[in-house]
Amino acid sequence: MRIIKLSAIDSTNTFLKELSSDNTLEDFTVVVANKQTNGRGRAGNSWQSQAGKNLIFSVFKRTKGLGFLNQFSISIGTALALVKTLNALSIPKVAVKWPNDILSANKKICGILIENVIRFNQLDSSIIGIGLNVNQTKFNDLQRASSLKIISGKTFDLDEVLNQFLVNLVFYAKEIEAGNLKKLKLEYESLLFRKNKPSTFKNTEGEFFTGYIKGISNNGLLIVLLEDEIIKKFALNEIKLMY
Ligand code: BTN
Repeated sequence: MRIIKLSAIDSTNTFLKELSSDNTLEDFTVVVANKQTNGRGRAGNSWQSQAGKNLIFSVFKRTKGLGFLNQFSISIGTALALVKTLNALSIPKVAVKWPNDILSANKKICGILIENVIRFNQLDSSIIGIGLNVNQTKFNDLQRASSLKIISGKTFDLDEVLNQFLVNLVFYAKEIEAGNLKKLKLEYESLLFRKNKPSTFKNTEGEFFTGYIKGISNNGLLIVLLEDEIIKKFALNEIKLMY
């Protein structure tokens, strides 16, 4: 596995995307940075991370035989690899907030930004970007953010956490390649934050409504039980789960 370490970069995802335009890029090439000047989050948000305190990295993953409708499997595999890593570090109450925020004790400790390349209806490759809050202890105005150090009181070695995660990611990538998607989906659903609990959501019109998260569909939509026993599936941009 090739690991490229950078002291500063705009965004490890952007950097790796540019590298991957060269078709010979090795599978599982990893770019890890000490600091990002333009860290990107989902939905056009930015990702802030104190220099040298956290893990900010991206992994290039080539995929074979995965139809674009199954592309959410990459999110599932990544989330499961993170949960396995955090469980091994004895981080308590780890959950996945759909689609792929990782929480501990209801606080966000990790964000994932996956950028996929689709060719001829098949997933060709993914850039898996991860920001894991490890040793940072102050988040100023981000009330829902936390870190491994805040939660456990311990300081972690960033390289060790990264290496453990990469071992777990390879494990789940093999599961995906072997076609064990149903099993992975069940494992992911068992970790869903607020599953089967009354929850408040916001729709695209800014209206609030209540429902129960039941699981996800094969293509990664959120399945919610609404009033009058109505079951509805929501895409990423259609719904926001309020805490
Ligand atoms: C989110 O929760 O909105 C996703 C955040 C993803 C942040 C990581 S940090 C490493 C990689 N490079 C980026 O620019 N973003 C991802």
